[in-house]
Amino acid sequence: MSIATAVDVVGTARDRVDGRLKVMGAATYPIDVALPGMAYAVLLQSTVTSGRIGDIAVDAAERAPGVLAVITHLNAPALASGPVTEIGPQPLPPFQSDAVLHYGQHVAMVVAETMEHANAAAALIEVAYQPDAPVLAFDDARTSPVFHPWTPDHDRGDVRRALAAADVQVQQTYTTARNTNNPIGLFATVAVWHGDALTVHDTTQYPHAVRDTLATTFGIDPTAVRVLVPFVGGAFGAGLRAWPHTTLAALAARVTKRPVKLVLTRGQMFTSVGHRPNTVQQVSLGASRDGRLTAIQHLSRSSIGMADELINLITHGTLSAYACPNLSTRATQVRLSIPIPGWMRAPGEAEGSFALESAIDELSYALGIDPIELRVKNHAHVHPDTGLPWSSNALLECYRHGAERFGWSARHSEPRTMRNGGHLVGYGVARGALGAYQPPCKAIATIRRDGTAFVRSGAVDIGPGPYTVMTMLAADCLGVPIDRVQFGLGDSSLPRAPQEGGSGLTAALGNAVHATCVSLVRALVNLVSDDEVSPLKGCRLEDITVHNGGIHITDDPARFETYADILARHGLDEMTLEGESAPPGETSSATMIVRAGRFIPYTAPSTGIRAHAGAYAAHFVEVHVDPDLGTIRVARVVSAVDGGRILNPKTARSQIIGGIAMGIGMALLEETVSDRTGRLVTTSLAEYVVAANADVRDVEVLFVGQPDSMTPLGTKGVGELAITGMAAAIANAVYHATGRRVRSLPISMEKVLET
Ligand code: MOS
Repeated sequence: MSIATAVDVVGTARDRVDGRLKVMGAATYPIDVALPGMAYAVLLQSTVTSGRIGDIAVDAAERAPGVLAVITHLNAPALASGPVTEIGPQPLPPFQSDAVLHYGQHVAMVVAETMEHANAAAALIEVAYQPDAPVLAFDDARTSPVFHPWTPDHDRGDVRRALAAADVQVQQTYTTARNTNNPIGLFATVAVWHGDALTVHDTTQYPHAVRDTLATTFGIDPTAVRVLVPFVGGAFGAGLRAWPHTTLAALAARVTKRPVKLVLTRGQMFTSVGHRPNTVQQVSLGASRDGRLTAIQHLSRSSIGMADELINLITHGTLSAYACPNLSTRATQVRLSIPIPGWMRAPGEAEGSFALESAIDELSYALGIDPIELRVKNHAHVHPDTGLPWSSNALLECYRHGAERFGWSARHSEPRTMRNGGHLVGYGVARGALGAYQPPCKAIATIRRDGTAFVRSGAVDIGPGPYTVMTMLAADCLGVPIDRVQFGLGDSSLPRAPQEGGSGLTAALGNAVHATCVSLVRALVNLVSDDEVSPLKGCRLEDITVHNGGIHITDDPARFETYADILARHGLDEMTLEGESAPPGETSSATMIVRAGRFIPYTAPSTGIRAHAGAYAAHFVEVHVDPDLGTIRVARVVSAVDGGRILNPKTARSQIIGGIAMGIGMALLEETVSDRTGRLVTTSLAEYVVAANADVRDVEVLFVGQPDSMTPLGTKGVGELAITGMAAAIANAVYHATGRRVRSLPISMEKVLET
């Protein structure tokens, strides 16, 4: 037997393991699930923004062909509220009163033999509303501010005094529009009861939260609920909450004693699965003449629904963005008659970074200092609150490598001085950052006698690629060829995983898979080290290399045994272990790093000596602006990214490109619009415009930096990173091209042309 040197799969650019299934149309999304005897539910939604439901005339619908049930608040059972998860409370259960809190609220559901029957019957329902005056504006006298307990005000030093004493000040107000997540895949639920046990196929980023919510709502044990979601057609945050329509599908199935499918329409997606709230932000900066920041004040107001609670992270990124002795942040939410909000890619940090990074750009012009130089000068070499060095931080390298690659030195510092034919050309830069986040996660790993490995966890792959990356990681940690490793997810009956959100899943799940696979190898090593007939007798984890589906002594490759042989000799069909990740900064003496099949002892720096760093980016943007029409083309983007250890450069790069595309949408196109009565005007992709291929041109991604030291895996999240700072980089480029500072997103043609 020849034993080649073990080589890591992790770190190489690999195609998606599920790519073929997806392009063949063979991946089963929740919307594709069809069960024998399945009925269809459709939802009727409120056409008023606020008030009460008066009469609902359902007789005609109930008598319509094919109808199995019509359910409204008048005949719905009492449903309990879902539990509060790590990421907050769930929306209130549907159909519990006659109150209308927002346009598009579910008010009736028809269940019928076919979707056509259900739609036809729903059209026969007549709802008489008693509307009242909705609250639509931040300055409405009826609003009262909500200070979210999870977003405390933050103060450092004395910002008021520092601002007054500053050589140079910038004080501006920035606004961002309400945005709506628009994944290609419509959200769908298929629910079926077997006695008191409920199975739902549901579009979600968090199967365990949906399971727990349905259990509480229907008063059954969580183990009686199973949530299945092997594939999700994008979500971008829309699947982070357990939504009322999922509860309604389960209710429809219970009432009709049939499997029931419920699919939201594209229009219903705009009011049923959350959105990015709009913001008004005031940023005040003070600096010395030589460009040192002396004061940062960031005040934010953002919208929230009438009955919701949602973490508000708008000023969160500002706290540690720059070295500055005086800082003050306030993040207030204002209750409006708007659909239930949710999260949308880099929630809060995308909006907050637009304001802060625009203001920093304005300061650079006020000081006459290059915008990169200003950022470098004020770089936070340590955490500005604690003074602790970062667990990793390559932001300065991002600026340097990105600027070089982009050709920043060709930029004329004066605005409106660069041209390309008839177009004004502008170069803009901004800092991107996303805080570190690694929630608890479990996994289960099996080695089988046929030499294959099967690793699973109750996580989700909404598109970024956990299927692929976890397969790669398990292959390396176990030393099993990647084509003999299968990774399973999307099932709440598997060990508990967190949401795929907050850019934390690769760290959470990756460290769980890593720890579980290391434990499994350790168990196998224990088995052979006592075994008189094994060539590995007496070995320890530190002595061995895993490779080619087995174990060999690192210094003596001839002493090798396959897992299959080990299991067979011990009369085992397989060996399975469940494990979990250690929180960042916590390790036991048994923690190891796996590199090239070897197990290297690892100790995390304690959180007392290092600040856990997030991911960083420097975005460089070239825009071309038509001075007569105000149209803006993002001609070129270079993003230099410190994402820690990059497990798969191909899927990671795709995440950065996706974030850039959504950043272009946020900056130039996306705006969820209501009329003056609060009715939504943008309810299709014709009215709500997202960046398409033609809007995303020449995009280059550079990865710089080193593995983060806080966890054995060394990753930092990159799913949301690229949208932070992206809108500011574009706005800054538009200013450089035109001399016009647009402080309100999206930067539409009319805002560019306004005099
Ligand atoms: Mo993201 S908004 O954490 O899916």
